[in-house]
Amino acid sequence: MADPVSPSDTRRLMMTSALPYANGPIHIGHIAGAYLPGDIRARFERLSGTDVLWVCGSDEHGAAITLRAKNDGVTPREIVDHYHADMQAAFHGLDMSFDHYSRTSSSKHHQIAQDFFTTLLKKGSFEVKTDAQFYDPEASQFLADRYITGTCPKCEAPGAFGDQCEKCGSALSPKELIDPTSTLSGATPVLKDTTLWYLPMGNHEDWLKEYIEQGTFNGQPHHDAQIWKAHVTGQCRSWIEGGLQSRAMTRDLDWGVPVPVEGADGKVLYVWLDAPIGYITATMEWAEANGKDWKDWWQSDQTDLVHYIGKDNIVFHCLIFPILLREHGDYILPTNVPANAFMNLEGDKISTSRNWAVWVTEYLNDFPEKSDELRYVLASIMPEQKDSEFTWTDYRERVNNELADVLGNFINRVLVLTNKYYDGVAPAFDPHSATEAEHAVLEALRIAPARVGNFIRRNRFRDALQEAMGVARLGNKYMTEQEPWKVQKTDPKRTEAIMHCCIQVAANCSILLEPFIPRTASKLQEALGIEGAIWNTATPEIIPAGRVLTQLPILFEKIDESIVEAQLLKLHASRATEPESEIPPSKPEMTFEDFQKLDLRVGEVTACERVPKADKLLQLTIQTGLDERTVLSGIAEHFAPEEVVGRRVTLLVNLAPRKIRGIESQGMVLMAESADGSLRFVTPEEGTQPGDIIS
Ligand code: 2FM
Ligand code: ZN
Repeated sequence: MADPVSPSDTRRLMMTSALPYANGPIHIGHIAGAYLPGDIRARFERLSGTDVLWVCGSDEHGAAITLRAKNDGVTPREIVDHYHADMQAAFHGLDMSFDHYSRTSSSKHHQIAQDFFTTLLKKGSFEVKTDAQFYDPEASQFLADRYITGTCPKCEAPGAFGDQCEKCGSALSPKELIDPTSTLSGATPVLKDTTLWYLPMGNHEDWLKEYIEQGTFNGQPHHDAQIWKAHVTGQCRSWIEGGLQSRAMTRDLDWGVPVPVEGADGKVLYVWLDAPIGYITATMEWAEANGKDWKDWWQSDQTDLVHYIGKDNIVFHCLIFPILLREHGDYILPTNVPANAFMNLEGDKISTSRNWAVWVTEYLNDFPEKSDELRYVLASIMPEQKDSEFTWTDYRERVNNELADVLGNFINRVLVLTNKYYDGVAPAFDPHSATEAEHAVLEALRIAPARVGNFIRRNRFRDALQEAMGVARLGNKYMTEQEPWKVQKTDPKRTEAIMHCCIQVAANCSILLEPFIPRTASKLQEALGIEGAIWNTATPEIIPAGRVLTQLPILFEKIDESIVEAQLLKLHASRATEPESEIPPSKPEMTFEDFQKLDLRVGEVTACERVPKADKLLQLTIQTGLDERTVLSGIAEHFAPEEVVGRRVTLLVNLAPRKIRGIESQGMVLMAESADGSLRFVTPEEGTQPGDIIS
């Protein structure tokens, strides 16, 4: 096994970025999550001479698409055609350099996904079960659990979902709901027998554990477990420890890849089976167009497979897809899945339905030719280990203070002074005239490419960018301290040495920053006469004496405060208010005495784990000031256990204890639920202590 953080002449690198659902435009959260990290890595690997392939495409199936089509009163085909084009425009505008961008509604993909399914079917990888499922007689379709609501049989709260009551946290099955209603049509669903193909994930726990924890598979090294992100390994571990349940790999729907089995009319493959196979289809399309063999990329031990995704896709890429690949038998397994967390926006979660987002195509309209500025800011605050936040004020500060004042200012001074003193021709340099200051700069240039490259290969893009910008900072500082504009008057020879060093720094910046800000890098390389430079040309001696340098216009314009204000105004003004019907009406009035019965306290979560065989439940251990107790909460799909530990929460401590899945829950953690279904903790202010009374 080659060391995945050092360059290798022989290993191939197969990279994918999550196929985005073609049901809405691309926003900055998507870019920071799965696409910019992929692009930075792919650009770097190409510059380094790695045999790399980066594919992506539109995910055009699943409920995300059919729901959007229904809401808009159009066909799923119209939705996917529109957003497939719209998303490509956004990616293109931000210079995402996919080697191939595909789509899952193509007949080629249908064929590939069906062949894959058939292979697994023949190998006996699925369990086939026929049982009664809810069917909407008005919408003429079977209903996914989430599309059924009703009254919770446990706490009698209205609006419980078919899989879970978010009020009391109970895991439910749709058939338990009182007065079930279809959210698609409002009709009362009826029970109808149907056959589904399940993936018995529980059978795979042992080898998955070894694969995730040790990076081995059947005792053989399969990836370098050292470079998996802790939050990815942690999430996988807690899913496995919670017990993996069988998942249906087919759906009763009329939009998707038809199940390739006789008599399975009206059934399609589960979108999470078909989507990752889209990576393989994309590779095949690329290989056909380029006279290559796709198997080299998916079925060779010489290849490392890396998936760039957001944290909501971890279970699919680290557990389900590896099971499918292994069951098939011919494929390699993912070497690494460097998932990113989420990026928030101005203090709130990015939300398509609430129109709380910075949309890429809108940004590019408002800021033409400023794709590098956005790429730079998103790379600087990429949510690599935990959620991060984009604010327009921070955007302005980074563009003004870092891109304009450091990088832009430095490059400008280098080119202007070279022009002024030497008519634009790089001066000669006598190494014997170098002082400590020059040695320090040249030594920094010597070690920078390996440092930046190693961070990129470890998927530490923020650190890599810091390191690369450190070179620009160093050059800017060196020039300011050496004051060539003064030295030139008394010691022109010394000025030549200073300018020589500054020119080398500028040239190194153009290569080291290329994966992050490719447009700027390319302008700079053109001005310095090093177009198409590759990574290992970044050395302290790139630009020879005598090279003619051309002038460049200002690289980065400063962003005025008024632009920040305008963007904030636009963001708030376009924030969608939720449709009234989605805000539940107030409950019946209660007396003050009723209210006084509630004993609400500040609690602190000291431990948290998943509840075995319950996808929705987390088991929290909470210090209440009175005692330490166990509380179950139906938040497992919104929070990983490690995100919950250490939080202060608002806890109802005198709720009668109840047993759920054999565990007694002693209280209830209060959550705020937004109309888009997102959940947040009701967090007591900083300074409160466990046991503090909330009244
Ligand atoms: O979460 C999403 O947007 C999914 N469409 C990602 C699919 S990733 C892969 F499996 F294709
Ligand atoms: Zn309930």
